[in-house]
Amino acid sequence: MTHIPSLTLNNGTSIPQLGFGVYQIEPQDTREAVRTALETGYRHIDTAEMYGNEKEVGQAVRDSGLPRGEVFVTSKLNNGHHAYGDALAAFDRSMEDLDLEYLDLFLIHWPLPAVGDYVETWQALEEIYRSGRAKAIGVSNFQPSHLERLLRETGTVPAVNQIEIHPYLTQDDVRAFGTDHGIATEAWSPIAQGKVLDDPVITEIAGRLERTPAQVTLRWHIQRGDIVFPKSVTPARVEENFRLFDFELTPADMAAITALDRGERLGPDPDTFNWIPS
Ligand SMILES: NC(=O)c1ccc[n+]([C@@H]2O[C@H](COP(=O)([O-])OP(=O)(O)OC[C@H]3O[C@@H](n4cnc5c(N)ncnc54)[C@H](OP(=O)(O)O)[C@@H]3O)[C@@H](O)[C@H]2O)c1
Repeated sequence: MTHIPSLTLNNGTSIPQLGFGVYQIEPQDTREAVRTALETGYRHIDTAEMYGNEKEVGQAVRDSGLPRGEVFVTSKLNNGHHAYGDALAAFDRSMEDLDLEYLDLFLIHWPLPAVGDYVETWQALEEIYRSGRAKAIGVSNFQPSHLERLLRETGTVPAVNQIEIHPYLTQDDVRAFGTDHGIATEAWSPIAQGKVLDDPVITEIAGRLERTPAQVTLRWHIQRGDIVFPKSVTPARVEENFRLFDFELTPADMAAITALDRGERLGPDPDTFNWIPS
């Protein structure tokens, strides 16, 4: 069985560097997709209330028969539950849907800077962490200015910041802020939902190494030290994305991929995104 490296988060907990993401997997397909991932050897699943498939993720983890301690499960607080009491209640609902004893990691999904209450939200996550029902807490889509405010006004440094990163958006400044403050970086949409796979720099490296463009791109993330969880409902791709640990990119190949950065976001800009579900 392939060995997936783990990273140690700032509170001493351990996270597999490669996981499986379930954004845009329909609830009726999620149980099967997560089953395939767990059978392939993935031991880290990334979901969110916003994805509408927490129930099916929990079901698949329980179905697997794996000891709870062997699968790392992350979920996220949806926009609209940022007030302290709402955040606690939303966490309870997520736990009910997941039907798991505890979560490994719980994140604030978006900072929503115009709403302006993410400090209070973070205090609710600190309370959840103290209760032991989330083994680690963190944030997603936080810019350095948002992180600075949390560090100034609260007592717990987030364990992770989950942000959009791929070769067309390398986010070196946000990653450097994380490194300086002991916040691990998780890269969402690591293959840019397929958009980087035709890039000539990536296809040239893939051809030379006899790997696929997705494997080369995911390997680039792994060697940068980030945590990734590519999504796929296609079993052959789930398998392909897992095979990252029997080859290496040279420093020159790493630099060539990093140089593809063009500041191109697929998702919204966290500084201006303030969407709340109705
Ligand atoms: N925190 C946030 O705000 C946030 C935002 C977005 C995503 N995320 C997390 O990050 C995870 C991954 O991001 P993502 O789902 O947006 O994008 P992604 O993993 O970069 O790409 C997924 C897309 O690429 C295709 N694909 C997967 N493997 C492939 C391969 N080997 N070759 C060719 N195509 C392949 C998939 O198609 P098929 O499924 O059809 O195979 C799917 O269309 C999400 O599932 C979610 O857990 C978090």
